[in-house]
Amino acid sequence: MTTSEAIQVRGLEKSYKTLRVLRGVDFAVARGGIFALLGSNGAGKTTVVKILSTLLKADAGTATVNGSDVATQAADVRESISLTGQFAAVDEILSGRENLVLVARLRHLKDPGRIADDLLERFALTDAAARKVATYSGGMRRRLDIAMSLIGNPPVVFLDEPTTGLDPQARIEVWQAVRELAEHGTTVLLTTQYLDEAEHLADRIAILHEGRIIVNGTLDELKRLLPPAEVRYVEKQPTLEDVFLALVGGGKDGDAGDDRTTAPASEDRR
Ligand SMILES: Nc1ncnc2c1ncn2[C@@H]1O[C@H](COP(=O)(O)OP(=O)(O)OP(=O)(O)O)[C@@H](O)[C@H]1O
Ligand SMILES: [Mg+2]
Repeated sequence: MTTSEAIQVRGLEKSYKTLRVLRGVDFAVARGGIFALLGSNGAGKTTVVKILSTLLKADAGTATVNGSDVATQAADVRESISLTGQFAAVDEILSGRENLVLVARLRHLKDPGRIADDLLERFALTDAAARKVATYSGGMRRRLDIAMSLIGNPPVVFLDEPTTGLDPQARIEVWQAVRELAEHGTTVLLTTQYLDEAEHLADRIAILHEGRIIVNGTLDELKRLLPPAEVRYVEKQPTLEDVFLALVGGGKDGDAGDDRTTAPASEDRR
């Protein structure tokens, strides 16, 4: 069992002085999965990510990442992860390509230019490769930031609120980048306050509330926690997001908002 899990967290506790933020957090993330940790402001999501990425020590409990213990094998953990924080950590003066080449050089990888070009292509930044990052939009920076964190192919990637502050179109672009990661076999743990982000992206969703994981499951499992949907006939009004995306032409590959606007099926008439 344990070897199939990229992240394993048991009984994690953390307080800041008298503030008990984590009160026994348990969850596991399968290899190659996208796991969303949901919670309100201050729920402790960043605290969990910091503990898993060895930036912070837990008060109690254990956590392993890629088979290594975050407390006793921190160096091994650091070698197998990347962390993308909420604010893009890219150099404004350099071009997108130069940023990537720089990181590949710092990691002593062979052929930094080729690594940069591959990532630019993967994250749809080839056309902007030679431009200074200062001229990039928020979504482009975020994509570049995620691309930079992938240099060296870490098997586990932490994304702390990857789309906070982005417009709907840029969010969809980042979602595509995250899906791309999982398709390459990378395990992704992301935190978000956006329910629709978790709904669109994650294989499993956990809700952190008052220091504990109160639910953890697939979207279908979470939906089954509520009574079955009532069948009602309503006129479907487009959401503001539908209007925005229709007007600005978001969701180029058509997989955003695919099936969430349909009214309940009309078969069921008991
Ligand atoms: N270094 C610190 N010292 C004291 N309190 C802290 C520290 N870091 C976080 N906290 C507090 O711990 C709680 C959890 O913070 P954390 O940043 O983990 O929440 P979060 O779920 O990431 O919130 P957000 O959605 O706003 O990013 C908050 O009440 C926060 O104020
Ligand atoms: Mg946070």
